[in-house]
Amino acid sequence: MGRCLLLLLLVLSSQVDFLQALQCFQCQRVNASGVCQTGASVCQAEGYQQCFLRKVYKDDTLSYGYQGCSSVCYSMTMFNKDVSLEEKCCSDSSFCNKF
Ligand SMILES: *[C@@H]1O[C@H](CO)[C@@H](O)[C@H](O)[C@H]1NC(C)=O
Repeated sequence: MGRCLLLLLLVLSSQVDFLQALQCFQCQRVNASGVCQTGASVCQAEGYQQCFLRKVYKDDTLSYGYQGCSSVCYSMTMFNKDVSLEEKCCSDSSFCNKF
């Protein structure tokens, strides 16, 4: 019985490790072709953080975007006159916030 418990603990802790290892693309500015122009790196989501991807459209054309890790993220689209902001959050796999 003790061995069984140990095994269970091992399985659980390896899953926690797996969750903690969520990595995301990080970029301060991705241009309309999906090329990161400033601050390209990788961040590690910690705690309740998720990967996010934001895209900014002007007059219905993709203008630029950014990526990173965030604990405040809502998947949504916001419209304001001719500008719209699309935000996506994900945590199902590393680098799921691909542009
Ligand atoms: C995005 O950046 C790449 C590399 O600098 C460039 O080749 C491409 O033309 C740019 N795209 C736009 C839409 O500006």
